[in-house]
This record gives sequence, C-alpha cells and structure tokens, in this order.
Amino acid sequence: MNDSFVELFSKPPKEIIENDFYFDADSDGDPFDENDEYFWLNQGIFKSNWEGKRQDRDANFILCDEIADKIASDGKPFLEIACGPGMGLAPIILAKNPQIPCLATDACSRLIRTWRHYINNNLTRYNISLASFSLLDMPLKDNALDYVTGFLGIGSTRNGGSGQLQALKEVLRILKPGGVFVAVEGEFEDLTKVDEVFKLWGKPNWYRNDDSWQTLWHDKFISTGFQIESDDRHYYRKWTKDSNDFGEAASRFNNQINMKYSLYVLRKPNRI
Ligand SMILES: C[S@@+](CC[C@H](N)C(=O)[O-])C[C@H]1O[C@@H](n2cnc3c(N)ncnc32)[C@H](O)[C@@H]1O
Repeated sequence: MNDSFVELFSKPPKEIIENDFYFDADSDGDPFDENDEYFWLNQGIFKSNWEGKRQDRDANFILCDEIADKIASDGKPFLEIACGPGMGLAPIILAKNPQIPCLATDACSRLIRTWRHYINNNLTRYNISLASFSLLDMPLKDNALDYVTGFLGIGSTRNGGSGQLQALKEVLRILKPGGVFVAVEGEFEDLTKVDEVFKLWGKPNWYRNDDSWQTLWHDKFISTGFQIESDDRHYYRKWTKDSNDFGEAASRFNNQINMKYSLYVLRKPNRI
C-alpha cells in the first residue's frame, strides 16, 4: 500500500496480502470464479482492457480525455471504485501520468488478487495499490481524497436505488471539500421503448424492479449533495441480440434500444 493511502484508512484490514488491504467484502461484490480468473489472465482480458482495445474502453478514452488530462497534470493520488475487470478510468489517467498513486478497489477479493498478479507481471511502471472493500461502507476517513473515479462503479452496486444512494453518500464523505468525483454511468436513452419491448414480448419489465428506474443519474447526484460541473459528454451503445434476453427480444421486434453513457464531473461543495 502506497504511503499516501495508508494514513487514509479508518480501520485496519482483515488481511494484508502482498501489501494490498483486504476487508472481507466479497458478499457485496460480483461472485467471480476460477473460470473468470483464467479468462482475465489467459485470454488477454486484463491486457486488452488495460490497453483500451475493447469497444467501450475506446469510447471511454475519448470521453474522458480532457478530465484525465486535468487529473494527470494535478498529479494527486486518486481512488478508483468498483474497478472490475476493466480497471475503470485508471488506465486512461495513468497513460497520461504513470507516476500518480492510484488506489484501485473492488469488493471481490479474487478480482483484486488477480489484478495484483497481473500488475506485478505487466504493469510495474505504475504506482498502483489495491484494496478489497465495499463501496457501501468504505473503510476510509472523511475528507480523505481529492479525486475519486469510476466507470459504472455506482451503477454496479446491488440493492437498486438505495444501494446506489448509499454508495454515493460514501463517495461524498471520503472526498475532500472541493474534491471531484469523475463518474461514467449509463442509462436507457428512452424508457418508453423499453416498456414497449417488454409489452410485445409479454413479460413484465424487470428493469422496473429497480426502485430508481425512472430517476436520472443527474438527479441522484444532486440529491446526494454533489455539484454537477459537467454532464454534457456522452456516447451511445445499441442493445444487441447478444447483450441478454431483453436485447434478443428488442432485436426480434425490430426495436432499437440504446444505452446512453455520460461523463459526470461532480464536485463536493466546500460547505455541505
Ligand atoms: C461491471 S464491473 C464495473 C465496471 C468496472 N469498473 C470496469 O471498468 O470493468 C462491476 C464490479 O463492481 C463490483 N462491485 C459491485 N458491488 C460493489 C460494492 N458494493 N463495492 C465494491 N465493488 C462492487 C463487482 O465486484 C465488479 O467487479
């Protein structure tokens, strides 16, 4: 664990492995197994994600270029939340300044262990610390960081809208006043079209099970207490028949469903 992060923790980890901190948070994360691990390491998934070769990664590099320049030139340590197999926005920022201390985190301990293996073998020029903890209850002090980043990080938490709100409150808490949360999150471009597909399909719209289905990310950020500095950069992805059963139904009924991904630059107000 890099020195700049050690002092930011509010409690000791349950376990330290290869200098990374583990807080026993697997029950909140994705249940990845040994097949995923094999896939990440031996099928080149970590490598291509890090290098920005996947389609959405590529779009992210363009979307986040400007804000990554800003973080890179500031050179302050940053926290990547729910880093997943893609490492979120960390590769984009570190490509611009490999020396910045980055703390990449995820609830899933297997994912963190596997990233450590990959980093030690392939990414030694970077200063990447790792920790396994849940976004819903971060073991970090209040007002600890200048920058938090995430790609579908808040959207990945379970428990629907209330889980997302809890995670957002946590991010707000650990940011310094004036600190910035850079988030890429996605939402359906047009909810009525989603309803239409389920109607044609004859199934209840399962996305409505999420209590925040109709709440825009913009409104979730505002209701938590963030100031929105910018939210005007987007890209779109078509839901395809390979996405899931819903995507298959949408394409069968010739109904194009788009996901809209937006870059949000959010500031913690100086006084809240
Ligand atoms: C689809 S990935 C998110 C995308 C990821 N940032 C990327 O770049 O690939 C979902 C990740 O969120 C993690 N996750 C889900 N809920 C979490 C929570 N409460 N705290 C921390 N990580 C969580 C999962 O373990 C998983 O690795």
